[in-house]
Amino acid sequence: MSIVGETGSPVDPPTIPQRRLYTGAAMPAVGLGTFGSDHVPPAEVAAAVKGAASVGYRHFDCASVYGNEDAVGASLEAILRSGIKREELWVNSKVWNDKHGEEDVIASCRKSLADLRLNYLDMFLVHWPFPNYHPPGCDVTSRSPNAKPYIHADYMKTWRAMEKLVDLKLVRHIGTSNMTIPKLKLVLRDARIKPAVNEMELHPHFQQPELFRFVMQNGIQPIGFCPLGSPGRPERDRAPEDSEPMKDPVIVRIAERHGIHPAGVCIKWAVQRGQTPIPFSVNPRNHAANLRAAAEDPLSDDEMRAIAGIDRNCRLIKGQVFLWKEGQTWEDLWDINGEITQP
Ligand SMILES: NC(=O)c1ccc[n+]([C@@H]2O[C@H](COP(=O)([O-])OP(=O)(O)OC[C@H]3O[C@@H](n4cnc5c(N)ncnc54)[C@H](OP(=O)(O)O)[C@@H]3O)[C@@H](O)[C@H]2O)c1
Repeated sequence: MSIVGETGSPVDPPTIPQRRLYTGAAMPAVGLGTFGSDHVPPAEVAAAVKGAASVGYRHFDCASVYGNEDAVGASLEAILRSGIKREELWVNSKVWNDKHGEEDVIASCRKSLADLRLNYLDMFLVHWPFPNYHPPGCDVTSRSPNAKPYIHADYMKTWRAMEKLVDLKLVRHIGTSNMTIPKLKLVLRDARIKPAVNEMELHPHFQQPELFRFVMQNGIQPIGFCPLGSPGRPERDRAPEDSEPMKDPVIVRIAERHGIHPAGVCIKWAVQRGQTPIPFSVNPRNHAANLRAAAEDPLSDDEMRAIAGIDRNCRLIKGQVFLWKEGQTWEDLWDINGEITQP
């Protein structure tokens, strides 16, 4: 298939590892992120989607708030017209935080479907567990005047609408994102349709071992965002204490041994550990290299152990804009004491 010109050499999609979801569905174990981080224009992301498909990507992680689903949809349409079948693709989208009301969830999904030119989504996620809107491109001090904490009864109203989307056959699976163990325990207790995935930040400097174990033990597949440490993330998500996994000496040494970029090591580690990384890239060479990293030349057990040892518990996407009252710190969003932070 050739739907774009210049690319790296392609990877045969059947050689890409797959994750088996609790429903029995198979999801490609690596996907392309599509968040332009407020600075990559929609047309460039859309071109990346086409280019990535031409080298073998079949899994695309979209969201309404990325502001590019219409452009990405034109690319998906071209990909499908080029002969790739709909059932060969895996497409995620997400409902944004100002659309948690029952009717809003359904309308948001229908809008994403229309923009993406699809008649169903493989996965629809609740993007954040907080119904607190902030505008794209805002800075770290931005707060919603009506900000609210996590209220489980409210989240379940949103989740009921998510379940209805499955009943309506608009989506095949539903999932959560940016959740914690105590929040997920309540959702697992009360859901009629359990989340099939939890999308969460995962990279060698932020391995979230407890949450990772929890979701695996509960039959929820972890999708790992910022798998490379998100070097292009928005200004609001940068802090002086942040680290850079691709520059870690352990990662660099392993990359040299395999003759690849450190990005490839982060992706191999993620795929072999069991999560599904969704690296973003608008560079055709990187698409092919990242996909090849997921499919070929695995890390040794020693290399996997060495990477397990470099976790720094360094969360990059801290979520300050979701804080709901004065005097809080971003840790309050993440229930670090094992209990949901009190309103
Ligand atoms: N659920 C959520 O709340 C949430 C939050 C954040 C992100 N996400 C999802 O996760 C995706 C990935 O996260 P991210 O975009 O923040 O960060 P990322 O994937 O960790 O990093 C992307 C950056 O790495 C560079 N890169 C990619 N491949 C490379 C390679 N082989 N060599 C060197 N550099 C490389 C890219 O530059 P080039 O473009 O030049 O290759 C880009 O600047 C997002 O796009 C989005 O879909 C979800």
